[in-house]
Amino acid sequence: MRETVVSGIRPTGNLHLGNYFGAVKNFIRLQNEYNSYFFIADYHSLTTHPKPEDLHGRVKTILVEYLAAGLDPEKATLYVQSDVPEVLELYLFLNMNAYVGELERVTTFKEKVRKQPDNVNAGLLTYPTLMAADILLHNADFVPVGKDQEQNLEKARDFAGRFNFIYGKEYFKIPQAFNFGNELVKVPGLDGSGKMGKSEGEGNAIFLAEDEKSIRKKVMRAVTDGGPTQLNQEKPEAIQNLFTLMKIVSKPETVQFFDDAYNNMSIRYGDMKKQLAEDIVAFTAPLRERIIELSNDDEYINKVARTGAEKARESASKTIREVRDIIGFRHF
Ligand code: TYM
Repeated sequence: MRETVVSGIRPTGNLHLGNYFGAVKNFIRLQNEYNSYFFIADYHSLTTHPKPEDLHGRVKTILVEYLAAGLDPEKATLYVQSDVPEVLELYLFLNMNAYVGELERVTTFKEKVRKQPDNVNAGLLTYPTLMAADILLHNADFVPVGKDQEQNLEKARDFAGRFNFIYGKEYFKIPQAFNFGNELVKVPGLDGSGKMGKSEGEGNAIFLAEDEKSIRKKVMRAVTDGGPTQLNQEKPEAIQNLFTLMKIVSKPETVQFFDDAYNNMSIRYGDMKKQLAEDIVAFTAPLRERIIELSNDDEYINKVARTGAEKARESASKTIREVRDIIGFRHF
């Protein structure tokens, strides 16, 4: 039997290069060889209270961008999380054995508490249990995610193992994080520190659907410094980030050229950024075209979502039936 892969993305805006290189790129390769489920985590996005009039459009955006990037509904099951409400029952079961103390220690939760102290809702605290439910709903072997999701995935592994232990049955597999290069990826943003997509701030992220002019403008404005003052100097974070981005989208010779220039102090950041912008544009332009095309094809998009939901519910309802039985629910 083929092994199973599950992953999802929250519909909070357009996909950016972080989402692509951290997650979607792996989805595209994995769908060829694995029993794959890729979904849009719209239940998860409720932690930030989106307006009802925005929610559907955001979900559609991600679905269109999944397809434009190369996810194939003939190979993978593409679905919207809220079309498969079975996940909520598993979420409830897992929550019964998830402890408040351990959930409070999750770094992303602590960050949210700091960033949005007036909206520390219970959904945020139990975010990792819902994510575990997504993964265990299809009994995944692998979960392709970026580095920032490592701890959430660790919780999913804990909850799977705990369920098995409590009920004395090796029912759930212990899911593993996945990246083709083995190391999970962290794509840096353009604002000098941290990951792309970290803040909603203008200029930090580059989107797959972004037009060339805007990409060039953002890259040219990326944070740099006055340049190296010694030969072979260690790179400060903002400069390292530019190099990391370049490694992701440019040819190795290009990276080597600017690396040499940095080390011998002849580098001109303006030239480096120009090159980086061109390489990003070359990568995103065909994607952007497909995004525009697909976003006008509502009939196709609706069909993909409906077929995906049906397939996902089949797998989900089997899991729920089995889990209910293990827990001890019996029909009268
Ligand atoms: P989300 O929506 O924040 O991000 C979606 C995916 O993109 C990756 N990613 C990055 N990777 C590398 N560098 C970056 N700068 C970067 N920014 C984002 C994320 O690691 C993620 O893989 N909790 C998840 C969504 C989710 C999920 C799941 C994932 C819900 N249920 C079940 C896997 C399995 C999230 O918020 O990702």
